[in-house]
Amino acid sequence: MAEKLLEVKNLYKYFPVKGVKGPGVQAVENVSLFINKGETLGLVGESGCGKTTLGRTILRLHEPTSGQIVYNGETIYQGEYPFERKETAEGKSVLGKKSVPRPKAVDMFPMRRKMQIIFQDPAASLDPRMTVGEIIGEAIDIHGLCKTRAERTERIKELLDRVGLNTEHANRFPHEFSGGQQQRVGIARALAVEPEFIVCDEPISALDVSIQSQVVNMLEDMQQDLGLTYLFIAHDLSVVRHISSRIGVMYLGSLVELAESYELNKNPLHPYSQTLLSAVPVPDPEVSRSRQRIVLEGDIPSPMNPPTGCRFHTRCPYASEKCAQCAPEFKEHQPGHWAACHLLDQ
Ligand SMILES: Nc1ncnc2c1ncn2[C@@H]1O[C@H](COP(=O)(O)OP(=O)(O)OP(=O)(O)O)[C@@H](O)[C@H]1O
Ligand code: SF4
Ligand SMILES: [Mg+2]
Repeated sequence: MAEKLLEVKNLYKYFPVKGVKGPGVQAVENVSLFINKGETLGLVGESGCGKTTLGRTILRLHEPTSGQIVYNGETIYQGEYPFERKETAEGKSVLGKKSVPRPKAVDMFPMRRKMQIIFQDPAASLDPRMTVGEIIGEAIDIHGLCKTRAERTERIKELLDRVGLNTEHANRFPHEFSGGQQQRVGIARALAVEPEFIVCDEPISALDVSIQSQVVNMLEDMQQDLGLTYLFIAHDLSVVRHISSRIGVMYLGSLVELAESYELNKNPLHPYSQTLLSAVPVPDPEVSRSRQRIVLEGDIPSPMNPPTGCRFHTRCPYASEKCAQCAPEFKEHQPGHWAACHLLDQ
């Protein structure tokens, strides 16, 4: 049986907003998932739905608001939900602060080596004042991974080679590289500490179409050779469906569906996933003609003031009164196929 590397339970991440009462930006809402050792879990959803925030919160680059994160059997975060629903004088239901115990402190330093991230914007993620050799070397130094200068130089060379760059590139600055090469530097930096788990945050969306597949192939080869586990974030399903064994779909901070890649493509259960899939181009013109594209009405609501009940109810073609009042539970409806929708409970 597959072994879990990461397990996330009821994870929330809210960003407080200065001068505004209440929880602020409710970017990640009650997300539960697990990732098996050596697998790629794809994560898709519209811009602003909380994919990056979820990835960073799992790595504790953002401090979670509440929930539980277990990495390789070790709890690296556990905290109680610090809000409760209250009625205002006008009869409005709002989230009010509640006193809860402080989460136990956990030393994340050894975890930083095991859990890495490849950033969405390669240019912004590299220090423009450091050479590529210094950028990669810094990660090696922080964790004391090379004993001698010669060993360190050799390791930097090996990493540059691994990501398809030349040894001479070590003396260049990030601005002297193309976007694709900058992303390769970001990948080499992540690999420098010999991680087990990498959050790949839209690693190809800022790149030219012609080099996107090169980077994806490289990430796949690295996974095979080094036994890596990925959380692979992308805007749309067409990117993740070929490389992920399972896919999670996010909408406005919540995970609405999670299933094996093939199963999700063949049999999407949640109305939002059905919409996303209807927009994916199909190579077969017959199938393409017969497929009906579902277009959602309205804009994505603000995570500062998300809809009550099911967060998708303001745009869902099947929404009922119950959907506006009560959030559906994220449940396993078929073996390995989770979704959150009241329609599935009937
Ligand atoms: N540090 C922060 N402080 C306040 N709000 C934030 C912060 N980071 C993200 N947000 C908000 O949280 C929500 C989710 O943002 P996030 O960047 O996680 O979305 P995303 O799904 O990664 O989008 P994209 O596909 O455009 O990268 C957005 O409304 C964003 O404005
Ligand atoms: S719970 Fe209701 S609003 Fe939400 S997806 Fe299902 S039918 Fe639509
Ligand atoms: Mg993002």
